[in-house]
Amino acid sequence: MNTVLNPFVIKEYVSKEFFCDRKNELFTLHRNVKNGTNTTLISPRKMGKSGLILRFFEDFSTNNRVQPIYVDIYSSRSLKDFIQLMAEAILIKFPEKSTIGKRFMNMLKKLRPIITFDPYSGIPQIEIGFQSSHEIVYTLQGLFTFLEEQNVPILIAIDEFQQIGVYPEKNVEAMLRTYIQPLKNIQFIFCGSNKSMMTEMFLHAKRPFFGSTRLLYLDKIDDDEYKKFIKYHFENRKKQIDDEALSLILSWTKSHTYYTQNLCNYIFSAKNNMVNTNVVKQAMADILRENESFFFQYRQLLTPNQWKFLIAVAKEDQISQVTAQRFIAKYEIGTPSNSRRLLKSLIEKELILENTSTDKPTYQVYDLFFSRWLQVKY
Ligand SMILES: Nc1ncnc2c1ncn2[C@@H]1O[C@H](COP(=O)(O)OP(=O)(O)OP(=O)(O)O)[C@@H](O)[C@H]1O
Ligand SMILES: [Mg+2]
Repeated sequence: MNTVLNPFVIKEYVSKEFFCDRKNELFTLHRNVKNGTNTTLISPRKMGKSGLILRFFEDFSTNNRVQPIYVDIYSSRSLKDFIQLMAEAILIKFPEKSTIGKRFMNMLKKLRPIITFDPYSGIPQIEIGFQSSHEIVYTLQGLFTFLEEQNVPILIAIDEFQQIGVYPEKNVEAMLRTYIQPLKNIQFIFCGSNKSMMTEMFLHAKRPFFGSTRLLYLDKIDDDEYKKFIKYHFENRKKQIDDEALSLILSWTKSHTYYTQNLCNYIFSAKNNMVNTNVVKQAMADILRENESFFFQYRQLLTPNQWKFLIAVAKEDQISQVTAQRFIAKYEIGTPSNSRRLLKSLIEKELILENTSTDKPTYQVYDLFFSRWLQVKY
C-alpha cells in the first residue's frame, strides 16, 4: 500500500482500495455478464469509465470464471491498427508460455508479424504487413474465431470504441457486428465518451449495433459516498479534513471524478494536516494558476465570437436556454441563430458539454478547471 504515495489517483486505475463506490454499476456489469448480455458504457470524458472496467476486471483476478481482455483503441486509425491492438491485448492476456498463448502465437506467425516487447514493461507490440484489404478482414474474423474456439468464457472490453467511426474502411460497424453476433463464448463491453457518436451507433434503429447491447450510462459518484471516501483516505494518513472543506471540494468540482481526484490529490500533497476551506481555496487557486498557459492556448484555437460565447457559458456555470433573450443580450451574442451556431461548433470541438441526462439538455464548459478559470478571470 505504501508504494502509492498519494491515495487520490489521477492516472490509471491502481486497485480497489483507491477506487470510490460504483457499487450499482459493478452490480449491473456482473449481471450483464451472468446473463450473456453485452454492455455499452458511456459517460462524459474523465468520469471514470476506464477505471470502472479495470475495477470490474479485478473481480475476475482470483477466479478463472471469465477471462477479461482490455483493448484501448484510442490510438487506432484503421482496421489494421484495430487488429494489431486486439492481437497485443490477447497476447497480454494469454502470454506465449500459456497453452492458449502458444496456440495464439502459432496462428499469429502465419501472418509474419514483427513482434517486439518493451524491455521495461514487457508489453508486446505487433506489426503486421497485410497484403490486401481482404486479408485484413479475414484476420479480424480469424481473431474472433480463434478466441471462440478456446472454449473459455472471455470478456472483451473495447475502450474508446467511437474511434471505429474514423476508420477509412467502409462498413466496419456492420462487419464487427456480423462477426460478434454469433459468438457464444465471448462477451463485450463497448466503452466510449463521444456521447453523440456512441449513442448514434447503439441507439439508432438503422445502425448495425442497434438493440444488441445494454446501455450503462456512468454518472457522477454520489456525494455522500465521495465524502466518505475522501475523509477516510485523509484520516487513514493521519490528516484531518472538515465537513465544510469536503462540501466545497465537491461543489467546486461538481463531483466530476477526475477533477475531484485532482483537487484532492493536490490538497493531500500540501503540508497541512488539518484541511479546512481555506486550504481548499488555496489549492483551487494554485491549480488554476498552474494551468493558465494551457487555458490561454484554447483562445488561439477559437474565433473571438466563440471565445466570447465560451466565457458566457462559463459565467452562467450551466445553461439550458442559449437562445433566451436574457442570455443573448447580457453577453452581446447577437441573434438566437448565432447563439445556436456557436453552441454547435463548440460542442463539436468538445469545449462545451451537452448534458442530456436530464429532461432538458443543459450546457457547460467541458473542462471544469477551464470553466472555473474563465469564471474568475473574466
Ligand atoms: N470510482 C473512482 N474512484 C476514484 N478514482 C477514480 C474512480 N473512477 C475513476 N477514477 C480516476 O479518475 C480519473 C478519470 O477516470 P478514467 O480515466 O477512468 O475516466 P474515463 O471516463 O475513462 O475518461 P476518458 O473519457 O478520458 O477515457 C482517473 O485518474 C481514474 O483513476
Ligand atoms: Mg477512458
